[in-house]
Amino acid sequence: MVARQLPKLKTRVRFPSPAPSFKLDCMFWHRNLLLETFDWYLREVLPVVERYATQEKYGYHGLYTHTAAVVFRGIDYALSLKQDPKPVVLACAFHDIARLNDGPDMEHGKRALPIIERVLQNHFPSYLPFAQSIKEAVENHTGGHTAPDYISACLWDADRTRLSWDRYFRPYFFTTERAKTVASKSPSKYIKFMKRNMSKYAAKIITVIDTLY
Ligand SMILES: [Fe+2]
Ligand SMILES: [Fe+2]
Repeated sequence: MVARQLPKLKTRVRFPSPAPSFKLDCMFWHRNLLLETFDWYLREVLPVVERYATQEKYGYHGLYTHTAAVVFRGIDYALSLKQDPKPVVLACAFHDIARLNDGPDMEHGKRALPIIERVLQNHFPSYLPFAQSIKEAVENHTGGHTAPDYISACLWDADRTRLSWDRYFRPYFFTTERAKTVASKSPSKYIKFMKRNMSKYAAKIITVIDTLY
């Protein structure tokens, strides 16, 4: 029996690549969680932190300016690692809580530790298993080099992104690839990203202006 020959195809068959829809799914996943987690920070964490913080509300290290921006980037960086962003939110929210002024204050990380312990015990007991990591991240955020875990990595990267924009970009100061990308580009690019990825509720509380970083 002679096998029937298949007709030759005139055009090459192209199979649709799954990449674009997969990329879109990832983008939506990232955006939704970023939005949702930042709202959680504003509704549940910020009012508590405000009660314990000695840092300024506004200004270079302000709660509603710098800390809000660090929390937003911390969530972004944690999601880029596919990690739970909420422990990172707490570390970022606490990192400058014990600042006494807007100038050089090298001991503020260490001073925050008893406050963090109290805040976690009184308001966020379900995050006590992360207490050690959060405290380590905050204590060493000014001088730490090798991040011991993703909580330190995301807080340090989120805080150092501004230093990078203000001074110069040095990739070895960063752990996450997302932070390296963000820090190597202009702050205005990230400001636009923030505006696109914040809820209406968040936009009422945090004013996203060109100097918010
Ligand atoms: Fe700090
Ligand atoms: Fe900071």
